[in-house]
Order: sequence, then C-alpha cells, then structure tokens
Amino acid sequence: MNSTHATTRSTIHDDVEEILVTGDQIAERVAQLGAQLEADYAGRDPVLVSVLKGSIIFLADLIRAMQSTLSLDLMEVSSYGASTESSGQVRILKDLSRPIEGRDVIVVEDIIDTGLTLNYLLKYLHDKGPASIRVVCLLDKPARRLAEIPIDYRGFTIPDRFVVGYGLDYDERYRNLPYIGVLKPSVYGAASPEG
Ligand code: PRP
Repeated sequence: MNSTHATTRSTIHDDVEEILVTGDQIAERVAQLGAQLEADYAGRDPVLVSVLKGSIIFLADLIRAMQSTLSLDLMEVSSYGASTESSGQVRILKDLSRPIEGRDVIVVEDIIDTGLTLNYLLKYLHDKGPASIRVVCLLDKPARRLAEIPIDYRGFTIPDRFVVGYGLDYDERYRNLPYIGVLKPSVYGAASPEG
C-alpha cells in the first residue's frame, strides 16, 4: 500500500475516552489468577462454568494460564427485563451441557455489577449438587451492588463507570477492544448506558 495515499481509517479505539485497565495489566493479573486457581485446585479437575457472551475472552486467557486438568461449560442467560429486574430473575437461554453433581465448580464472570445475575445463577448451580462453587470475576463494580456475592477471586475493582472491551460490550460492539475502557459520551448520543 502506498503510505502517502493512506487514508485515516476510524477504528473502535477512536470511540474510547479513557483506558481504565491496559492490556498489559489484564495479562499480568489474569496470569496471577490462573496460577492461584491452579494451586488451589491442584488434583481436583474443576469445571469452569462461564456466562456468555462477555466472559469468553477472560475465560480463554484464564484457562491458558492454568496447566492443570480442567473442563469447561458455558451458559447463557438473559434478564427478564426492567419491570422484574429487581427480583433478579433471569431466564436461562443455554443450560449446562453436563451434570455438575459432585464437581468443583468455578464460575467465571467478566463483571459483577448489581450482582443479580450471579445471585440467581449461584442458587441455580447449588441446586445441582456440586462439591463446591467459587466465583472468579475479572471486574468487580461494587458501587451498584444489590445482591451480596461471595467473590473468591477478583481481577480488578473498578469505579461506577460504564466499561467496554475485553469481552464487554455497548450494544454488542467493542468486545474486541484489548483493554477495558470508557467510551466517549458522543458514542451514546442521547442515550446514557446503565451500569
Ligand atoms: C454482564 C456480565 C454479567 C452481568 C453482570 O452480562 O457478563 O453476566 O452483566 O451484571 P449484574 O451483576 O448487574 O447482574 P450482560 O447482560 O451484559 O450480557 P453479555 O455478557 O452477553 O454482554
């Protein structure tokens, strides 16, 4: 390509106002979390249960930071909508593919915000009779918490700002940003995102 005639292409990075957690910081922390999980679950063959879609990038990096035997399962949930949101009722769109009875379960989440999704999921998973359940999340946003969640492993505690990147979206976009960032207000137009 002739660089003299290269046009300026806009990318997802242009919409970012501020980077809260850099890609290098994420990589370092995920490596630490993986090593910690590997040590804590040595010889226990845990099953990591992750919640689509935001968690997949964290999950992919986390499991590659663990050298021990483990397996994966994926769930997808959606909340019932604004009117019932405070009840924390969620609808399961994709259930576990294998039983978790007697297994050591590690729930992998990208972000815990109100905690309502995980509050529901933890009860749901407990009812399936696992040997244990622990929670690992990349981002903990405690300011908006409505349900108390036992977070066993956390990557970063973040302020009450709407964040995107490394799996997290705004209107399904920006999941492929390699860092955690905050979008420019102009991206939202009149709308102001919750969370
Ligand atoms: C995010 C995140 C958690 C949930 C946390 O998922 O992955 O599942 O929200 O919020 P809460 O603590 O307030 O319940 P989201 O609904 O954005 O779906 P996505 O992962 O497909 O983007």
